[in-house]
Amino acid sequence: MTHHLHDLATPALLIDADVLHANLQTMALRHPGRHLRPHVKAHKCTALAAVQAAAGHDAFTCATPREVLGMAAAGLGADLLLANEVLDARRLRAMVEAEQRHQAMITVAVDSAATVAAAAAAGIRHVLVDVNIGLPRCGCAVDDAGSIADLARAEGMEVRGVMGYEGHLMVIADPDDPDQRAAHERQVDAAVEQLLIAHARVGGDIVSSGGTGTHHLHRRTPGVTEVQAGSYALMDSHYGAQRQPFGQACHVLGTVVSVAARHAVADVGLKALGMDHGNPTTDAGKVWFCSDEHLTFAPNRSLSVGDTIRVTPAHIDPTMAMHEVAWLVRGDDVIDHWSIDLRGW
Ligand SMILES: Cc1ncc(COP(=O)(O)O)c(C=O)c1O
Repeated sequence: MTHHLHDLATPALLIDADVLHANLQTMALRHPGRHLRPHVKAHKCTALAAVQAAAGHDAFTCATPREVLGMAAAGLGADLLLANEVLDARRLRAMVEAEQRHQAMITVAVDSAATVAAAAAAGIRHVLVDVNIGLPRCGCAVDDAGSIADLARAEGMEVRGVMGYEGHLMVIADPDDPDQRAAHERQVDAAVEQLLIAHARVGGDIVSSGGTGTHHLHRRTPGVTEVQAGSYALMDSHYGAQRQPFGQACHVLGTVVSVAARHAVADVGLKALGMDHGNPTTDAGKVWFCSDEHLTFAPNRSLSVGDTIRVTPAHIDPTMAMHEVAWLVRGDDVIDHWSIDLRGW
């Protein structure tokens, strides 16, 4: 076991244990227990999910069958929601088998007659109707939610309620502008209103919605019953600019491999970072650009080849999916390592 940061091979994914702990506590105070259904897509790590369970949240959101199967096998399957549509009969059947083998409870999102039929044919017992509340992704129209629930019940499945993800409302252009904040709150309320109309037609106990960018706007009753936030645990620079009460717990450690007159290069390229939200940041200087294996930046201090720097990813979810292991650190000490074991589909 490595004991010091400088012993790690780079690029290395770091999780600051104390910042993670503080983030989990902050969220658990606002949305305790089952009022939060942490999304594991943001970390893909059963060891981290176990810490979230210890913080009181034993129901989880998953994005892929692989995440569902891994969580069930890890004994974290008390109440797993696959918040995604699946048509693949083998994967649906694998989840039914996992439910029996691991005494898990698995609920699958449906948004069409085809997804209801696929779930029913595989033996899925619980579904949630996924409703489009503004993000043009999965989810049925509000007007169709009741009939999709009827189809599922006719197939003998339990319809536990509705979910809707307002992913288009997760960030505000200027979070310091009170007018923008007020407008954002009205937009989130309007999206939730749509979900509640759908829920009145669908029935069931669950109204599942929200993410890190809207978690503070979801009152627990009588509207949304649970929040699906995931990024809050580790955070990224995209969310970090939003004045959320969560600290940056994840960095990628890089080694400076080349130094020139005006720039330096570290070995943290776009194959070690989710880049769809833009360039990463580093407190070692101003990032110019990333290429496959390199981060080119203008250093703000004297750096030599062999020095290490910490890089903050702009998007945590795809960053986690690129690494096999996360190193748990406290300062410069490496105190543990966690397998990123829920990768793949
Ligand atoms: C269905 C769904 N729910 C919730 C989330 C919450 O994510 P975050 O906490 O990253 O905002 C996501 C993220 O993409 C999602 O796809």
